[in-house]
Amino acid sequence: MVELPTEGEPVRVIEGDALESLRHLPSESVACCVTSPPYWGGLRDYGQPGQLGLERRPEDYVSALSVVFGEVRRVLEPGGSLWLNVGDVYAASGKGGGGSAGGRTSWATVRDRKGFRMPPDGYKMKDLTLVAFQLADRLRRDGWYLRQTVVWEKPSAAEPARLDRPSVSHEYVYLFAKSEDYATRGPGERWWNSSVWRIPPDLSADHPATMPLELARRCVAASSSPGGVVLDPFGGSGTTGVAAVAADRRAVLLELNPEYAAIARRRVAEAMGMGAGSLLRALPQPSLFGEGE
Ligand SMILES: C[S@@+](CC[C@H](N)C(=O)[O-])C[C@H]1O[C@@H](n2cnc3c(N)ncnc32)[C@H](O)[C@@H]1O
Repeated sequence: MVELPTEGEPVRVIEGDALESLRHLPSESVACCVTSPPYWGGLRDYGQPGQLGLERRPEDYVSALSVVFGEVRRVLEPGGSLWLNVGDVYAASGKGGGGSAGGRTSWATVRDRKGFRMPPDGYKMKDLTLVAFQLADRLRRDGWYLRQTVVWEKPSAAEPARLDRPSVSHEYVYLFAKSEDYATRGPGERWWNSSVWRIPPDLSADHPATMPLELARRCVAASSSPGGVVLDPFGGSGTTGVAAVAADRRAVLLELNPEYAAIARRRVAEAMGMGAGSLLRALPQPSLFGEGE
């Protein structure tokens, strides 16, 4: 059994496969899960055997994640919530095509190398797969309560201009609850009044798909209380852990890639050194995002 974080060690970063690690976490021990899994379609190669996202068919990706999130549901407290950030992906990279998630690596190159130049069975060349909604619907059918689809609007479209369709400038953040009577509550901030969140992407160099701290902060604030445990099974560079520390929560982060796990430990240690107040002051303020609420 994995030991939960303590007051003395509020964040635990556990290296290894998410599903395997989750199986060692106690049931009903976590207040909420805030996470961004690897996206389908070989958009990014995290360079690790066992990494998710390289399944040939969207349906296989959805099935693999449904098992992982089944374990997440077990470890959540009865009133627990899951905030799931994921983007949609086109069926094939085609010639010079790309994905939808934004970033500095060449999607087409990674996708071509991983065999995603041609669409999987059942999809055509230019199809948007709706893999994000396929996943959301599967989790709903697994027993999760799907409570909201938040559109995360990225003020500057990360995707280059396209000739035959508007550029993608958003991703989704699905809010799921473990039970009908769940504990997520509005924290008294303006963004709660909208299902469109305008937050600039984090383009720092630590990780190719870093979640903005402000996005994680909102989810943590709404779905946990001080001292509660926040989980990220795809911890990456540790943004969820930093948001948890800043809000006086504890966190468990799981990550397959040892280099990212090391970055997560460093970022969390820095955040703890800064103290919650100065960390949050260092965050871009929502009003500067032109939130317009
Ligand atoms: C989208 S990134 C998460 C980024 C993170 N939210 C952040 O802000 O840095 C997905 C992460 O999942 C990790 N990953 C991929 N397959 C995994 C697996 N089977 N178990 C655990 N982690 C995995 C990747 O290494 C990558 O760091």
